[in-house]
Amino acid sequence: MKPTDTRSVSRAEAYELSEDMPTNPSTRPTMGDIIARRLDRRTVLRGALTTTALAATVGPLVMLGGREAQAKGPSFDFEEIQHGVDETHHVAPGYDADILIRWGDKVFADSPDFDPMNQSAAAQEKQFGYNNDYIGFVPLSADGNRALLCVNHEYTNEELMFPGLGRQDKIGFTGMTPELVDIEMSAHGGTVIEIAKSGGTWQVVTDSKYNRRISTRTTYMEITGPAAGHDRMKTSVDNTGRRVIGTVNNCAGGVTPWGTYLMAEENFHGYFQGNVTGHPEERNYKRYGVPGGWYGWGKFHKRFDINAEPNEANRFGWVVEVDPMDPTSTPKKRTALGRFKHEGAESIVNADGRVVVYSGDDQRFDYLYKFVSAGRYNPDDRAANMNLLDTGTLFVARFNDDGTLDWLPMIHGQGPLTAANGFHSQADVMIETRVAADLLGATPMDRPEDVEPNPASGKVYVMLTNNSKRKAGAVDEANPRGPNPFGHIVELSPPDGDHDAIRYTWNILVKCGDPSVAEVGAMWNAATTENGWFAAPDNCAVDAKGRLWISTDQGGGWSRTGTADGVWALETEGALRGTGKMFFRVPVGAEMCGPKFTPDGTALFVAVQHPASDGVKAYEPFGKNSTFEEPATRWPDFKDDMPVRPSVVVITKQGGGVIGG
Ligand code: FEO
Ligand code: CA
Ligand code: CA
Ligand code: CA
Repeated sequence: MKPTDTRSVSRAEAYELSEDMPTNPSTRPTMGDIIARRLDRRTVLRGALTTTALAATVGPLVMLGGREAQAKGPSFDFEEIQHGVDETHHVAPGYDADILIRWGDKVFADSPDFDPMNQSAAAQEKQFGYNNDYIGFVPLSADGNRALLCVNHEYTNEELMFPGLGRQDKIGFTGMTPELVDIEMSAHGGTVIEIAKSGGTWQVVTDSKYNRRISTRTTYMEITGPAAGHDRMKTSVDNTGRRVIGTVNNCAGGVTPWGTYLMAEENFHGYFQGNVTGHPEERNYKRYGVPGGWYGWGKFHKRFDINAEPNEANRFGWVVEVDPMDPTSTPKKRTALGRFKHEGAESIVNADGRVVVYSGDDQRFDYLYKFVSAGRYNPDDRAANMNLLDTGTLFVARFNDDGTLDWLPMIHGQGPLTAANGFHSQADVMIETRVAADLLGATPMDRPEDVEPNPASGKVYVMLTNNSKRKAGAVDEANPRGPNPFGHIVELSPPDGDHDAIRYTWNILVKCGDPSVAEVGAMWNAATTENGWFAAPDNCAVDAKGRLWISTDQGGGWSRTGTADGVWALETEGALRGTGKMFFRVPVGAEMCGPKFTPDGTALFVAVQHPASDGVKAYEPFGKNSTFEEPATRWPDFKDDMPVRPSVVVITKQGGGVIGG
């Protein structure tokens, strides 16, 4: 389905609209409506909220950790910042938050300078891409002062990138030219760039031999694993079914234990156009929302037209593995990890040496997955690990109401995954992962985003960002609110830390939203202040001390909570479990992506994505949609001749030290 009204909304909101069922009979006010009304009242009551008031409405929290942990006190030692929204970013007092690299900045010594009025695809191929999302950190030196940053570029906003263009998706992309499309394709993908620390400051090294741009237009990739070479993977230009150009919508990702960079392909459906009715892949494509019609690429590149090239969309929706140590290496699409809207791909080495990769499928009512490698990780032989992700078992999660979770194996020939249901091989199971998971009886979740194993505790954290379409009568213990506009976080407990186990237990860590509004049904520790709660958890990171940090993406919904997105620290153990604390805030219209700590915890890298985009009409000092000429903010340069620019920010403690104390 195409978005129903995309001219007046951001891409993220258009995505929400594209999922809407036109026959949805619900006429109840959503929690968002309720909180919007309450926020009007709160304007009057501002400042009146106290910890006591919050405590009155928080739900019961299970106190884990015993007396010892209770005596420990807060894990985090920083001064919280306040909810709010304005044109720039904010970080806790005593910290610096510096711009590391911006859209258009040089990736190579010979990259042209960024010239927003005279962009070209050739220049963009050598410059930092748009909408930075996942950030991976791969150390290069033993002293920790040199590293590679691996950064995804998820998508493009043509109305903010190009002079005089405006939104194109509702007007048939009539303003798009082949060159503009090529710039968009070159602004997608990823960047590998060396960074170095000197005098306590991290900076990019533009003349590093490791630097690389991965682009949707020019970077050839190999398809590996069970679906490689299958007829459904072949196209008119690739009769092997093993070679594809580019990767799209790389959202979150991961770095493997052997130091490769995983790029998750999320909303791949948005890049295709055409008519799915009667299409040979109709069942498959409809389940994924192909074609989404978000971009005009199919006008000039026929492979993005599903009628001209029926199988191209089967070649997207995978996890891509890149060796950042070799800029000439061919990225691999690892089909053993399944095809869906992969939010991320964070991994852990199990005690038995198997590698386990967790991945959420970010759509309302879609599923949580894990892949377990057949082979074992060899810490002494990097080369021996390079194809571990090609052979193993993909599992999908069924959450039981008794607090257990069963991992259901997705193996051709087992259970319903047979020819009778259209699955003739493991390749078919991987190509139509969602349909296979439907048949297995997986639990429909409230939009699984980042999934992060914590090596310190053996737990796994699952961000469930929101689900405005869950009905009150269709809740379950793992998705307990209907509708769920503010999201929640589920904590998985593998038995004895065994990530290979097929039965885990689970708990809800927090239910997000404002705990001072009873109708929201939030659940936080009573120690959470009026700035410590958040909504729409999206990405997360575990720091060197095993502590959890959350970044949020409310889309246009920030105007209903009264705060821009940001980074919050979240207690997971002891008496303070479930206490949030606000650390960083993005400029208006941005979402917060990619939190990543250095291994020593002294720097935190965050990706400010699509500033000036989401919900800026509700930003009173501005009050309209942003354009290239007139964005809601000109962050981070604040120069009249510079557009707003998505950027990576590096956060350090003044005078040095571990982030968060
Ligand atoms: Fe690209 Fe699910 O966020
Ligand atoms: Ca996101
Ligand atoms: Ca993460
Ligand atoms: Ca999101």
